[in-house]
Amino acid sequence: MIILGIETSCDESAVSLLRIEDGSNPQIIHESISSQVRLHEAYGGVVPELASREHLKNLPLLYAQALEKTSITLKDIDCIAATQGPGLKGCLLMGLGFAKALSVASGKPFLGVNHIEGHILSPFLEHPITFPYLALVVSGGHTELVHVKDVGDYTILGRTIDDAAGEAFDKSANLLGFAYPGGALLAARADSHGASSYRLPRVMREAHGFSFSGLKTAVHQLIVREGGFAITEDKRSDLAAAIQEAIVDALLYKLKKAITDTGVRTIAVVGGVAANKKLQRDIAALPGITMYVPSTLHCTDNASMVAYAGAMRFMRGQKSDLNISAIARWPVEDISCV
Ligand code: KG4
Ligand code: ZN
Repeated sequence: MIILGIETSCDESAVSLLRIEDGSNPQIIHESISSQVRLHEAYGGVVPELASREHLKNLPLLYAQALEKTSITLKDIDCIAATQGPGLKGCLLMGLGFAKALSVASGKPFLGVNHIEGHILSPFLEHPITFPYLALVVSGGHTELVHVKDVGDYTILGRTIDDAAGEAFDKSANLLGFAYPGGALLAARADSHGASSYRLPRVMREAHGFSFSGLKTAVHQLIVREGGFAITEDKRSDLAAAIQEAIVDALLYKLKKAITDTGVRTIAVVGGVAANKKLQRDIAALPGITMYVPSTLHCTDNASMVAYAGAMRFMRGQKSDLNISAIARWPVEDISCV
């Protein structure tokens, strides 16, 4: 069976062709991504209207290229899966509209996919992971800790009440003067510096969810106290290390609690922040843990995870009506069990 995956929930247009016979051995025939990071850099964040226009321009090109490079035709595709939410509504509508048009033209089934379910299941693209596991979904838009018992059987053990972990990295990076999105740059500086001489406050330790917006204020106050933009490069690195320590510590603390509470010792770290070396190191160091981290290509937004999640639902007899619309806010635990 061949699934076409389409992802346009934020600032990446992506297309994937996935061959799958059963759940355990997916084969990516082709995948491509067109990132808009450079376009939004000037604004210091994603501009939704510009992002959806880019999807409208890029998606048909990525799709045409995918068919041309693989010699696969629409006739060979068994199901068309596109991200339905959560995400920026105007962006989601581009991918959904495109997928619906292909479905109408070909008569092939169409499926609206939850983007977070895509991230949660993304380790299956590369690793021999088995249920149950704890998924730490950490990206620019999301921070969720999920007990994954099966496809569609998700219990949220914690999610952010304000900023996402990636957002905390990026906003702090901006305060330190690093170019947008800044998270990876901040992390590289922090790694080259080692342990920080500063200690930022740890918030909401005993509460259910995560909170990162207070960190931004604390970072801002610390930078001002240390001399504002005039800080030395060494101090900038020292501060970067303190920020990374605070964010990773917040994630680790809740993850350790979840491991104790559930007894589940298989951990999947997914989303753009999963690329963070300190986060990976600290999780891997937890006793008795098996950790799976997809390659960076499949940690950040991509269409193969959408194709895989779509395939899992299609194989369980699901498909979507052509009248479904984009869902900007769509908690993953609200999607039906299959
Ligand atoms: O999954 P993703 O593409 O985000 C969404 O589209 O939601 O991931 C991007 C996020 C950005 O916030 C970026 O700064 C962060 O992941 N990121 C990192 C690292 N690499 C990327 N954050 C911390 N350490 C890294 N090495
Ligand atoms: Zn994402």
